[in-house]
This record gives sequence, structure tokens and C-alpha cells, in this order.
Amino acid sequence: MYTKTILDRFQNPRNAGGMHGANAIGQVENSACGDIIKMYLKIDDNSIIENAKFKTCGCCVAISASDIACDLIKGKTIDDALKVSSQDISKILGDIPQYKMHCVILAEESIRSAVEDFYKQKEKATKAAIRKTKRQIQEQQE
Ligand code: FES
Repeated sequence: MYTKTILDRFQNPRNAGGMHGANAIGQVENSACGDIIKMYLKIDDNSIIENAKFKTCGCCVAISASDIACDLIKGKTIDDALKVSSQDISKILGDIPQYKMHCVILAEESIRSAVEDFYKQKEKATKAAIRKTKRQIQEQQE
């Protein structure tokens, strides 16, 4: 029923596991089946995704799709990673029955969730830096 690629990526995922030093972590869940994908990214100062890893609590297709999604976004800019679609992932995995496409879509969503987290963290850091600068200016004026 499953292609060789799906079975290979399910049995020997290349990108499984968490990541020490990840600066973006996304998590998505399919409410119907309860499967979860957690995507870890290390993004450099030029917005290039240096590394991508995943932890998936889910079916064979969700695990293999997560693994392929990591491969597809590594070395890409954030903007280019956001262009990676479930169609791109399913093309590599091979013949995905329509009723399993939601598993592949979940992998695509996990990329977006991680990128969203990256921008949230960045915004938090910027706000903290602004607060710090304001405090320093106030202290100098006192
Ligand atoms: Fe839930 Fe595949 S059955 S993601």
C-alpha cells in the first residue's frame, strides 16, 4: 500500500529528533486523528534554515512527510521554505491515497508554525531590546 520512499522514511527517518539550539519550534495537531508534528528549526542571521528536525507522534505518512519536509527546507531562506507545499512533499513520497493527504498537509503546516514561532521570538527579542534601551535612557536622565 505504501511506496518504498514512505516506508524507508518511516523506518529510517533522517531528520527525527529534537534540536539543541533551535530558534524556532512549531507544533501542529490534526484534531480529527490527534496526530502531532513538532518542527525544530535553526535559522541563521541571513534567514537561512541551517537545520530542521522533527518529532512526530503520528502515522507512517505523517512521519515520512515530516522527514521530507525537513529535507526540502534545509538550506533555504524562510521565504523559500514557506513555498514548500504538501504537493511538493507528496511528489517525493509517491502515491499518497487521497484519504492520507491530510497527513502530508500537517507536515506543510508544521513548517509554517515553526516560521511563525521564529518571528514571534524575534518580535519578543526586539521589544525586550527596546525596553532595555528606554530604561537605560531613563537612568541616564535621572
Ligand atoms: Fe493522523 Fe496521519 S492519520 S496525521
